[in-house]
Amino acid sequence: MSTTDETASMSGPRIGTQSAPANAAFLSDFLWGAATSAYQIEGAVHEDGRAPSMWDRFVAVPGATYQGQTGEIAADHYHRMGEDVALMAELNLSAYRFSLSWPRILPQGTGAVNERGLDFYDRLVDALLARGIRPLATLYHWDLPVALLDRGGWLVRDTPYAFADYAEVVVRRLGDRVDWWLTQNEPWCSAYLGYAEVIHAPGLRDNQLAVIAGHHVLLAHGLSVPRLRAHLSPQAQVGIALDFYPVYATDDRPENLLAIKHADTFRNRWFLDPLFRGRYPDDLFTDMRVAPPPIREDDFSIISVPIDFLGVNYYSRMLVRSRTETVALAEHTVPAASYEAVERIPGASYTEMGWEIFPDGLANILTRIHREYAPKALVVTESGAAFDDHWDGTGNIHDQQRIDYLRAHIQTVAQVIRQGVPIKGYVVWSFLDNFEWSEGYRKRFGLVYVDYPTQRRIIKDSGRWYASFIASQRESRP
Ligand code: FCB
Repeated sequence: MSTTDETASMSGPRIGTQSAPANAAFLSDFLWGAATSAYQIEGAVHEDGRAPSMWDRFVAVPGATYQGQTGEIAADHYHRMGEDVALMAELNLSAYRFSLSWPRILPQGTGAVNERGLDFYDRLVDALLARGIRPLATLYHWDLPVALLDRGGWLVRDTPYAFADYAEVVVRRLGDRVDWWLTQNEPWCSAYLGYAEVIHAPGLRDNQLAVIAGHHVLLAHGLSVPRLRAHLSPQAQVGIALDFYPVYATDDRPENLLAIKHADTFRNRWFLDPLFRGRYPDDLFTDMRVAPPPIREDDFSIISVPIDFLGVNYYSRMLVRSRTETVALAEHTVPAASYEAVERIPGASYTEMGWEIFPDGLANILTRIHREYAPKALVVTESGAAFDDHWDGTGNIHDQQRIDYLRAHIQTVAQVIRQGVPIKGYVVWSFLDNFEWSEGYRKRFGLVYVDYPTQRRIIKDSGRWYASFIASQRESRP
């Protein structure tokens, strides 16, 4: 690994003292961001005309979340937006990725627009721009209005059309000021965790439903892209965020190499291929032991509409082997196929989520997507880690592991850019601690700590490190 350029300027004490690296990877308009999503931070679920989303319903099911925790208050961001944007400025962020709550804006999913819901995001966007922070808006981060769930949710074709209408409502209000748009966040999770694994809303367990839901999420994306573009300036960037787990095998015996192929089809190509190649990968449906979803004639041309950038969410890799040997199975990773994932890898380090720390996987997936799918640009739209953070009761949270994690992943991105891969931004998950879905509040991902009983925010050491790092990048590229 390189020890010059960004690598050197990433070590704490030397930050800000570096002269401009000769072959700087990160250009001056590179987006240095942090991300959140609506249900995970906003709270205020009953306010200003917001109707419930399917997550409000799911969290009420006994056992669905850790200790029955919900997003009812979350990080109270709805009431603390001004304070939070000021903290983003303290972190020197040049971009903030947030999501909009569909049921705040269209409480019934379609039809009447709740202007007060839109007003909140309008104020947020203005507050960001006033601080020189670029808004990166995600239209869907899993909080489907229950009104639409009750009409079939992602299992019916009306929902993608409703989504495209919702996208247009939002872009009409914010499109004059927001240049970066993501339609959907992680369709794999919407479809598989929600419809086949009972881990996410709506909490079903059926592979067949998952592939139908996934198809409709893709359709929602494709239908919304032209609706967004119609209201945006030509320089606006429209994309989608997918989650990736590059797949490795325990060794290169032929049966294990075949295991890679199957796991990769399921975990990475299920959504990549329809978006960029206009078809589903071979083996996907037979591996999952399902029939293909109902596909109409124009669906793939709608889904594979050209996009300006691909959002890459990366946390870890998958290590697999063919199912002939006996090993512990990782949770939630294996469909009905002939491979299994290794849960604990000797010598590896893990985050609090139990996810292996594996920065090279980010290089692997970025270069591979560039080589095989060639999106016009890529943005790392999520990268980060949960660790067992402790507040010392004064002003400090010493989270050296998160600093190490971020530094290693940013170094990886620098290397990949130098190889010619067009990466336009790096966005940390998350700006602040929040409601980690079925894991509740016990998993902390933030650059900023939240003391939930008081809602006090404290910048972690990692947040300070990130702020210094971004400043050093700015100083070296005036
Ligand atoms: C991603 C989600 C995000 C958060 C992180 C840890 O899959 O998009 O909301 O839960 O994982």
